[in-house]
Amino acid sequence: MNKAVMQYDTVALDETIPALVIIDQTKLPGKVEFLSLTGLEDIREAVYLLKVRGAPAIGVAAAFGIYIVADKFKTENYEEFYAQFKTAKEKLASARPTAVNLFWALDRMEKLVLDHRGEKTAVLKKLLKEEALRIRNEDVDACRKIGEYGLSLIKNGDGILTHCNAGQLATVKYGTALAPFHLGREKGRYFRVFTGETRPLLQGARLSAFELSADGIDTTVICDNTASLVMKKGWIQAVFVGCDRLAANGDACNKIGTSGIAILANYYKIPFYVCAPTSTLDMNIPSGDSIVIEERPPGEVTEMWYKEPMAPEGVRVYNPAFDVTGNSLITAIVTEYGIVRQPYSRSLAELSSRLK
Ligand code: MRU
Repeated sequence: MNKAVMQYDTVALDETIPALVIIDQTKLPGKVEFLSLTGLEDIREAVYLLKVRGAPAIGVAAAFGIYIVADKFKTENYEEFYAQFKTAKEKLASARPTAVNLFWALDRMEKLVLDHRGEKTAVLKKLLKEEALRIRNEDVDACRKIGEYGLSLIKNGDGILTHCNAGQLATVKYGTALAPFHLGREKGRYFRVFTGETRPLLQGARLSAFELSADGIDTTVICDNTASLVMKKGWIQAVFVGCDRLAANGDACNKIGTSGIAILANYYKIPFYVCAPTSTLDMNIPSGDSIVIEERPPGEVTEMWYKEPMAPEGVRVYNPAFDVTGNSLITAIVTEYGIVRQPYSRSLAELSSRLK
């Protein structure tokens, strides 16, 4: 297991080129390969193909990406600069539709350009770089704090189920739902983590299992459909998952399969925790019903990972990448500002007013 990989940031800016440096997550766990990307198309494709993935990581990659692209603009004219910026922003924003962090980061970068209307383009480029680095640093701080709050919910000896990868590989460092485990290990705490393999792209089996065991955490991979059994056996004392978009009423959108686990946890009376930095909170949507759920190609279900296609040729496939867990199934939401509880419409509104 490659422990060294956990020493690197998942998403980084090489300021000398400048370039977006990512660990190619499609190659993990077999190969640890870094990519250095400078072109708009390459950066967009890396997000679309999940070379970089996970809501916070996508946000930081987009912030670095738009800075890198804008840094190459030749014009000295503000209006032309802004027009080119808008085109590049739209292109990056079209890479994936669900995780709000992508739009949140790009909007923040655009606001900076708009707030400095008429400014020299060299100044704008410098400001964009600083803002992108701020977004990166805030992500690291938020994840560390989520780790601390999350750890307060875990007892020694607990068995914990997670789904997808909401770990270091989905952020710059530490992760969200996996941050409490990394931090707990650092503090000598003991617990067992079960990770669902997470069909069809196997973020649990390939990525969570990789980073948790690389960090020396007791890790067991289960098939997604084994969740009910491990709960029934009494092996699970809590569920920790990440989030791609948190609606104003606390409905939480996350990797497909999450809502089923929440229903099972509810049945077995197991606390179900959603870990989300406030960059994932979308107060513009009243509930999860308004979230656009990404649908991905059929081949991810029928062919990927197999030597031969595993379904009849041409069969219809439904491959949504996310689902929404209703707020009533969520025991608490762990943010960088603390642990938020029901009723979420009120607690999230209070939290959001602190952000302004
Ligand atoms: O399709 P992915 O791999 O980008 O989906 C990622 C997830 O669903 C994560 O659980 C979520 O982004 C939270 S990451 C801290």
